[in-house]
Amino acid sequence: MTLPTVFITRPIPASLDALSAVATVEVWTERQPPPVEVLREKMAIADGLLCLLTDRIDRALLQASPQLKVISQMAVGYDNIDIAAATERGIPVGHTPGVLTNATADFTWALLMAAARRVVEGDRFTRAGLWQTWEPDLLLGPEVSGATLGIVGLGRIGQAVARRAIGFNMRVLYCGQHPSAAAPAVNADFVSFETLLQTADFVSLHVPLTPETYHLIDDRAFSQMKPSAILVNTARGGVVDQAALFRALSQGQIAAAAIDVTDPEPLPMDSPLLTLDNLIITPHLGSASQQTRTKMAQMAIANLIAGLQGSPLPHCVNPEVYHACP
Ligand code: GLV
Repeated sequence: MTLPTVFITRPIPASLDALSAVATVEVWTERQPPPVEVLREKMAIADGLLCLLTDRIDRALLQASPQLKVISQMAVGYDNIDIAAATERGIPVGHTPGVLTNATADFTWALLMAAARRVVEGDRFTRAGLWQTWEPDLLLGPEVSGATLGIVGLGRIGQAVARRAIGFNMRVLYCGQHPSAAAPAVNADFVSFETLLQTADFVSLHVPLTPETYHLIDDRAFSQMKPSAILVNTARGGVVDQAALFRALSQGQIAAAAIDVTDPEPLPMDSPLLTLDNLIITPHLGSASQQTRTKMAQMAIANLIAGLQGSPLPHCVNPEVYHACP
């Protein structure tokens, strides 16, 4: 019997043994993602695709993939995949929710603390040989304990960020399309987007990138934030209008920001954002703990195998492709 063919767009940190037992597996081993023409060539003969958020899986590619039975993305977000087009073709799309919640919430806090307490500036200052003595007013930042945290989107990761704020004795506000049943457990109060922007000392973004959230944080949003506010983005770069972010940070509309995601990724080296001292930028590391990345890879493999075998994916983005999928 001929085994199904699978293309994996990058080496992933989990054993491929179980997959290799049921499929012929090809892994793209270059550091850069496969170019679109390679993706097209591989997907033209693939039964299964395991991809990353750096791979753009659009309608044209899907139309050129006659055998494709399953797409498994090693990420919780899936804005790089045309889900509607996959659904139309009856292709289930898997993702990796839950396992990266704590790692991403931890990293959000790492950025929040680093921006508030000027950790990266302090490191640069020290390495530049500028540390001459203890100074009463050197690199002061706002107090985190007792401050107000505004969470935009109280999903799994937003809740985990809010839960951590309890230890810092913070007031937590959140906004979203409607109040969340999970809010009381994490001590978070529902407010409008405007109230959150006007009140929060720290604004942390936890919404997926959709047409509705694209450039949610724009000039108007920045104009409503406190001049002392700090913005943290571990969601998706497109949620923030980067030109507006540059204006807000350089004109003192907000105090600082820390972003783990940009649009595009990687951020081009001529981006004006790179000239700002009051901005921390990291290369999309939210889920980057060893344990979490392994769990994500294992989950992506489990989704892929289920799809190849015609079973419902354990974590399916578009369950409407099955009648019986929960
Ligand atoms: C990372 O950004 C993810 O969506 O998993």
